[in-house]
Amino acid sequence: MENKIRRIGILTSGGDAPGMNAAIRAAVRTCAKNGVIAVGIRRGYQGLIHADVLEMTARTVNGITHRGGTVLYTARSEDFMSEAGQHRAAQTCRYLGLDAVICIGGDGTFRGALALSRQGVNVMGIPATIDNDIGCSHYTIGFDTAANTAVEAIDRLADTMQSHERVSVVEVMGRHAGHLAVYVGLAVGATSIIIPEFPYSFERDVIEKIREGRMHDKHHHLIIVAEGVGKCDEICKRIADETGLEARVSIIGYIQRGGSPTARDRDMAARMGHFAVEQLLKGERNQVICYRDSRIVPTPIEEALQMEKNLDAYMYRVAGDIGI
Ligand code: F6P
Repeated sequence: MENKIRRIGILTSGGDAPGMNAAIRAAVRTCAKNGVIAVGIRRGYQGLIHADVLEMTARTVNGITHRGGTVLYTARSEDFMSEAGQHRAAQTCRYLGLDAVICIGGDGTFRGALALSRQGVNVMGIPATIDNDIGCSHYTIGFDTAANTAVEAIDRLADTMQSHERVSVVEVMGRHAGHLAVYVGLAVGATSIIIPEFPYSFERDVIEKIREGRMHDKHHHLIIVAEGVGKCDEICKRIADETGLEARVSIIGYIQRGGSPTARDRDMAARMGHFAVEQLLKGERNQVICYRDSRIVPTPIEEALQMEKNLDAYMYRVAGDIGI
């Protein structure tokens, strides 16, 4: 693959996240500023296999910063899972004359980017997922917007649940990780937060807290359950059986993935998109653009994929201590 960067492909893959458009715009405009042609690849790696592309200019990305979703569409490509698919995608890159591909998404997207780099394609990853579960980066684009959307929905829910003196069991997205659940749970003042990372005692962490709250004139109890734990119906039934209170399940679901990105997500996306292109122009290859200790920093993609992210235990403890 060429060492000089003249054409950069940009794709979004996996679950969309608010702020992806702002990252696309930043990358396209940084290309334009440096005389590099930006090629939008539609539908992630699936589109790359089939050369589903469009040229993007500074003007074609007008007015997309505030829009949720991704103008490039996204997909979870089965075909790209196989080595044959990866080989075909790399051939497309050569056929299109792409000197590098910027891959925006989560860990699945980065595993795809690594596979592509092993086929000789230069890649750069930008972390964008509402789950915030990427080990190498303290922050992923989309998390703040999703958290705020969930908080707004739960505040509304609390109004009606409080009026009926019910218990709310609310499932928050996050796939296998509880980052979103803990952050949201703390923000809404949850009674309990149930996440996959830490064990919990149903009796001590849910039932006793509800009983104690009742004794102190608390009229609404909010139990946040991470998607990775699930079983909300079961949890709800146990609460009703053991406390005699009415309980209701609400699964916020995909609403959390949509909507106009917050300032934080736009800002992070703009900086990461810009940084990704500048790294390529400097001759850097095969990295993930990360946010660590308030700075944008690159990490080699193989290393990035091996890094693990621990759940913020302090945040979890604070939420537990004040959710009484
Ligand atoms: O990774 C983002 C996410 O929204 C997760 O929170 C969720 O588990 C998953 O994607 C849902 O994926 P899909 O869009 O394929 O149903």
